Amino acid sequence: MKFFIDTANLAQIKEANELGILDGVTTNPSLMAKEGIKGNDAVMQHYKTICEMVNGDISAEVISTDFAGMVEEGKKMAAIHPNIVVKVPMIKDGIKAIKWFSDNGIKTNCTLIFSAGQAILAAKAGATYVSPFIGRIDDSGWDGVELIAQIANIYAIQGFKTEILAASIRTALHIVKCAEAGADVCTCPLDSILGLLKHPLTDIGLAKFLEDAKKFA
Ligand code: E4P
Repeated sequence: MKFFIDTANLAQIKEANELGILDGVTTNPSLMAKEGIKGNDAVMQHYKTICEMVNGDISAEVISTDFAGMVEEGKKMAAIHPNIVVKVPMIKDGIKAIKWFSDNGIKTNCTLIFSAGQAILAAKAGATYVSPFIGRIDDSGWDGVELIAQIANIYAIQGFKTEILAASIRTALHIVKCAEAGADVCTCPLDSILGLLKHPLTDIGLAKFLEDAKKFA
């Protein structure tokens, strides 16, 4: 399973990248706004900076909701760097745009996936990735990880090449469950990635080893 970090914060991207396990980055308009980035040039420059920091797929989300607007925005984004993946919302014009990008050799990430039917449509259109929003599904009283398993089963039966990118991850346990359910990628906040490191018995065990090491140091 690939690990992406889900942020536009450069310090967090750097910290995750230094672990040596980072395969890419996802952003969205909310994450960009959180970093205080304003204006189209600044947004494009920010994507370029991320592409130069991380050697992997970098999702940049369009904000147009019509086919022509999404294609125009996506072409500009894709021109920034070969690793840009154009992130497109799961709407009717989004599906048309994904098909256009796919036919023109531009990678896509179909975002805001909340059902298996949406995931089938995105795969049919040729999306490189689909992003089911695990945490938001859990918030609404359904089981996000179950959706990952359902999509993984459908894609395996049907032979779809689209990768399942589990998004809206909230905890380290979400990452483990998504790996079990067959996600190809997990995009995670830094805290959830670092949460995978933690186990109290590791801390207790290390403290004991270091204490005993003093006996022969
Ligand atoms: C990433 O691609 C998604 O936009 C993101 O994971 C959404 O996460 P949230 O539900 O925590 O906002």
